[in-house]
Amino acid sequence: MEADHPIGVFDSGIGGLTLANAVRNVLPNESIFYFGDTAHLPYGDKSTAAIQAYSIKICNVLLSQNCKAILIACNSASSAAFELVKEYVGSKAIVINVIDPVVDIIANQYANKKIGLIGTRRTIMSNVYKTKIDAKSCGIDLRSVATPLLASMIEEGFYNNSISNEVITEYLRDGDLQDIEALILGCTHYPLIKSEIEGFYKGKVDVIDSSEIVALALRNSLLGKGLLSSVIGPKHTFYVSDYTNSFHRSTSMFFGEEVALKHYRLWE
Ligand code: DGL
Repeated sequence: MEADHPIGVFDSGIGGLTLANAVRNVLPNESIFYFGDTAHLPYGDKSTAAIQAYSIKICNVLLSQNCKAILIACNSASSAAFELVKEYVGSKAIVINVIDPVVDIIANQYANKKIGLIGTRRTIMSNVYKTKIDAKSCGIDLRSVATPLLASMIEEGFYNNSISNEVITEYLRDGDLQDIEALILGCTHYPLIKSEIEGFYKGKVDVIDSSEIVALALRNSLLGKGLLSSVIGPKHTFYVSDYTNSFHRSTSMFFGEEVALKHYRLWE
C-alpha cells in the first residue's frame, strides 16, 4: 500500500457514484478507480452467494490496479460480502463498507430511540444493520422496510417528480416507519431522493445519508495508516462491466458531472 495509489470503489452499477462523489469532495487529492458491475445490476435482488462471487472477482481487478483501499459503495454488497472481501484482501488494502460508519454514528446519537431503515431486499433481509446496532447495546429500536422499487426508479431518472413522490410516500407510510426519530438511507442510490424524503417528514425526522459519513471514515482510516495522498490534480477512472449509452448519460445524476465510462470485459 502506498499513499499515491488509488482508492478502489465498487458498486452493482452507477449508484455508487454518489459515494465516489463524496470521496472526491472529502479527499480531493485521492485518485478514484471506480468499478460498476452493470452486467449484474441490481444486486439488491441477487443471492448472497452470487454477490460474494461478483465481489471477489471485482476485488481482483481493484488489487491489480494497486488500490490502497477498497470501498464497497453498495449496501447490498456490504451486507452480503464485506467479511469475505476483508478476509480475501487481507493486508493488501484497507476495506471499508457503507454500513459500519453509519452504525457507529447512529449508536452514538440515537441511543434508546426508534430508527427506520430503507434499502434493497438483500440489505433488509440480511439483518446486518440490526445485528450491528444490537451489538452496540445502545437500546435502539430499528425498524427496517425493503423498498425495492426505489433504486431502479432513480436509475430511470424518476426523482423529484410526481411519480417518485407517490412511490416514496407509499413506502414511507408503512406502519413500521411511524414515530421514528431518524431514517437511514440504506442504499447508495438514495441520496438523490433525500430532499423528497425530508419533504415527506417536514423536518420532523433526521434523514441519514451515508455518503459523507463513509467518506469521512475512509479519510480517518487512511490518515491513521499514513496513507493520505498529496497528489495535486489526481486522476479518476470509471469502468463498468456492461456499457450502454444510458448508463453513460446517468453518470451525471450520481457524480454531479458526466464522466467517461469505459467498458471492462470482466465477465466475457
Ligand atoms: N446501490 C445498491 C445498494 O446500495 C442498490 C442497487 C442494487 O440493487 O444493485 O444497495
